[in-house]
Amino acid sequence: MPDSPPAPPPSGIVARLRAAGCVFAEDEARLLVSAAGTPAELDAMVDRRVAGLPIEHVVGWAEFCGLRIAVDPGVFVPRRRTEFLVREAAALTRRAPDGPATVVVDLCCGSGAVGVALAAALGRVELHAADLDPAAVRCARRNVGAAGGQVYEGDLFEPLPAALRGRVDVLAANVPYVPAEEVALLPPEARMHEPRVALDGGEDGLDVLRRVAAEAPRWLAPGGCMLTETSERQAALAAEAVGSHGLIPRIARSADLNATVIIGIRPAAIP
Ligand SMILES: C[S@@+](CC[C@H](N)C(=O)[O-])C[C@H]1O[C@@H](n2cnc3c(N)ncnc32)[C@H](O)[C@@H]1O
Repeated sequence: MPDSPPAPPPSGIVARLRAAGCVFAEDEARLLVSAAGTPAELDAMVDRRVAGLPIEHVVGWAEFCGLRIAVDPGVFVPRRRTEFLVREAAALTRRAPDGPATVVVDLCCGSGAVGVALAAALGRVELHAADLDPAAVRCARRNVGAAGGQVYEGDLFEPLPAALRGRVDVLAANVPYVPAEEVALLPPEARMHEPRVALDGGEDGLDVLRRVAAEAPRWLAPGGCMLTETSERQAALAAEAVGSHGLIPRIARSADLNATVIIGIRPAAIP
């Protein structure tokens, strides 16, 4: 017998979501129906979505690299395009299954989605993640903790254990990279429901990246790599920043995901 098609979502909910500007109103209605435990909970969820909360904040999770990542209100929602960074990192770091665990640091981790997806892709990892924002750290502790990793709170590398210096195989740093003046132009879901510290990368969007690139060579193992997402427009300057402290930079681009990633490899000896 062929599978019967899924039941259509309640038309009243679809209509409310559509009127509020939700482009994928039917899919979202289905998601909300499956996430809600009771009719009252469903009503409250629809109200929150109609009021403009990102769907991921309403249901409490986002799908990322095929995984369900918990995302608390006020925490950056992992974007589909960032899956490209994970793919590139995994392709660069495949190791023999009986070799030593790969040391992964997810800096500016937000929910911890990138580190958790890397752990799933790479198998045996020693996973560390860090973020400045206490809400992100609380959220990441649930996701990264479940993957066997540690989460630290503080500015960039400052809270990481010193014993990681020179040992990091993969440094994933999806830093904020929106130029300060362009934050106001972002869609309301980001502007109003994600913290400014997760978005604002300073005057040209590269302030945080420059700070990460300056310190990365001291933390990476020889042959280790740093990966950071940027926009296509910023890519040349971002690659220059990554290359200016001794890493060998390269720009990778996915047209499918509209994603640009800068990769910096640490050579055996750094100047
Ligand atoms: C663009 S979000 C990326 C979050 C996550 N990596 C992801 O891809 O879903 C940037 C994150 O950087 C954090 N952040 C910004 N400045 C930071 C700093 N100086 N030190 C540590 N984390 C910082 C923000 O709190 C936010 O969670």
